[in-house]
Amino acid sequence: MSHDDYPTDRPAVVTCGLPYANGDLHIGHLRGYIGADAFNRALKTLGQQSAYVCGSDMHGTPVAVNAEEEGVEPEAFALRWHEQYEETFPQFAVDFDNYGHTHDETNTETTQDIVLTLEEEGHIYEKEIQVAYDPDADQYLPDRYVEGTCPYCGAKARGDECDEGCQRHLEPGEVEDPHSSITGNPAEYRERTHKFFRVSDFEAYLTEFLDDLEGTSNARNQPRQWIEDGLQDWCITRDMDWGIDYPGEGAEDLVLYVWVDAPIEYISSTKQYTARVGADEYDWEDVWKDEGEIVHVIGRDIIQHHTIFWPAMLEGAGYNAPRAVAATGFITIDGKGLSTSRNRAIWAREYLEEGFHPDLLRYYLTTTGGLQQDVDFTWTAFQEKVNGELVGTVGNFWYRSLLFAYRNYEGTPEAEVSGEVESRINGAIEEVREAVNDYSLRGVGHAAVRLAQFGNEYIQRNEPWKLTDDEPDEAAQVIRDCVQLAKAVGVLLEPIAPGKAQALWEQLGEEGEVADAHLAEALEAPPRHFDEPGELFEKIEDDRVDELEEKLEAKIEAAAEDASETESDETDEGEADDMAATDDLEPLLEDRISFEEFQDLDIRVGRIEAAEGIDGADDLARLEVDIGFETRQVVAGIKRLHDLEELPGTKCILLANMEPAELFGVESNGMILAAGEQADLLTTHGDAELGEKVR
Ligand code: 2FM
Ligand code: ZN
Repeated sequence: MSHDDYPTDRPAVVTCGLPYANGDLHIGHLRGYIGADAFNRALKTLGQQSAYVCGSDMHGTPVAVNAEEEGVEPEAFALRWHEQYEETFPQFAVDFDNYGHTHDETNTETTQDIVLTLEEEGHIYEKEIQVAYDPDADQYLPDRYVEGTCPYCGAKARGDECDEGCQRHLEPGEVEDPHSSITGNPAEYRERTHKFFRVSDFEAYLTEFLDDLEGTSNARNQPRQWIEDGLQDWCITRDMDWGIDYPGEGAEDLVLYVWVDAPIEYISSTKQYTARVGADEYDWEDVWKDEGEIVHVIGRDIIQHHTIFWPAMLEGAGYNAPRAVAATGFITIDGKGLSTSRNRAIWAREYLEEGFHPDLLRYYLTTTGGLQQDVDFTWTAFQEKVNGELVGTVGNFWYRSLLFAYRNYEGTPEAEVSGEVESRINGAIEEVREAVNDYSLRGVGHAAVRLAQFGNEYIQRNEPWKLTDDEPDEAAQVIRDCVQLAKAVGVLLEPIAPGKAQALWEQLGEEGEVADAHLAEALEAPPRHFDEPGELFEKIEDDRVDELEEKLEAKIEAAAEDASETESDETDEGEADDMAATDDLEPLLEDRISFEEFQDLDIRVGRIEAAEGIDGADDLARLEVDIGFETRQVVAGIKRLHDLEELPGTKCILLANMEPAELFGVESNGMILAAGEQADLLTTHGDAELGEKVR
């Protein structure tokens, strides 16, 4: 079954992975919340009814451990962070229709109700298992209280997740060489009775579900592999006090595992939205119980929870299935993994304190690379993007068009929009529609910026300043077109840069909110009169960037000094941390090669021009890579790890003199270089041309 294109006549709900209420928000978090917000706004511009809901994740060891370190009760600790998030998100124009938290009454009731239904339906059973215990701390060691080695990939892992390696969920007792994170003692084991969700009941269902699932390809391909490897049942209770009490019998002293009640908050938060606006305006049951469009935006580290456990729970309890799971890549800073403990991070508060408009970061995070790709943040790249695309293209076009219109016509000249411009705007609207249906925020942003680029070329080509005296009608026509184009760029850019789009809207003398405008309004005439416009974007100067880079380096150094004093070696949730223990890495080769031998490797800068999966091969994709002199056909093992449709246009590095090989009947003429579990494609960041040699 395939889905109808957006907009559909059913309501949608867009959600974003709940932030653990345990620390400051940074750019890694913002990528997801901004991305989901932009997607929700973009759906609405298409005329899709949609709500954006989320909430703070209050339970589990990620909160309990941090609260304990601070010596406060988990509830007070988590509520404090929750309140901070409620204040921070709007500052980035992340506009939730409802933002709740997992410890509130709605979520407690909804969670207990779902668990009881799963029990009634026979999907839950009891089992005796060995649970890690620390005798010195005199407590059980669920999840983050235990550290060890991942049995699947050998990376350093926490009790319930392999966050530095293969990203798998780990069941209690699975982690190898377990040690207590409280005392460092090797964990002892004690027998306990726990509740299990029989995920294996849903194997056939999940296979079909994944065939229909939209979003990013990693969210379909990774779970297919996990299903192939065999689904394990899921322990859904924990020996802890902090959490939602298990509602059924025989587990009175256990709480639910945090990953049970966290996604249920998506439903609870939607319920709260309905309670506020009334079911006539938005009915949570239409979405969650009938056939609404459920779209989850998440980090790629929590794919398993959203594509295996969550849809199985929904199905088992009689709820609707998600339509899409869009799993974003990680953020790196200056090419290295974001690390909060090393302060290699751009904090939400810090960004705002630097005085930058939130839309600049929104634009950078949504349009640098596809959703699924890792995005590197450097202040220099940020400056280049802002100065080039927002200041140079969009801002320049808006300002010159509106200023010319104001000075010569006191607003929008009286004329009809030309056929050429009308059809160009219609083309851009179509691009946005396609981009939304492809879950491509980059596509949405680029459609708007390319339209502004067209506007700049149009004004330049028609030179209205030469026409005002002798050809006044022609001049008025050109400016009429430009004002329409300026408005259209604003409507199209609103999901990505809502603040700046609203400012343009007001400069045009439009009433109300651009956020309420549908795409068709891009073609409606702006008011006849408007006031003198101002410039909406400001160039970021080089010395400002130097200063920001120095600050970043200094704070990383300061954190390193602190760390060496305290010998702290903690790592952070869901981050592409550069702290992976070196003993997890392949050992360095003892044998050295000469410079001449290195020169024998003909490594070139390339650009992927086309990418498609190879039929019958689970992992392989056929790529066409332009290396300046020619375009090479290459077979690469990246089919499951990248969204192939997003790859054209991506720069890469190709080993060009690799022996030709034939794989699944397709000749491969080179090897593209990649690193890491997710096959991060190596690339260059400066001015290297296609075909240039890597030295
Ligand atoms: O990984 C995390 O940060 C979790 N707090 C995400 C929860 S998303 C969900 F399922 F609610
Ligand atoms: Zn692993």
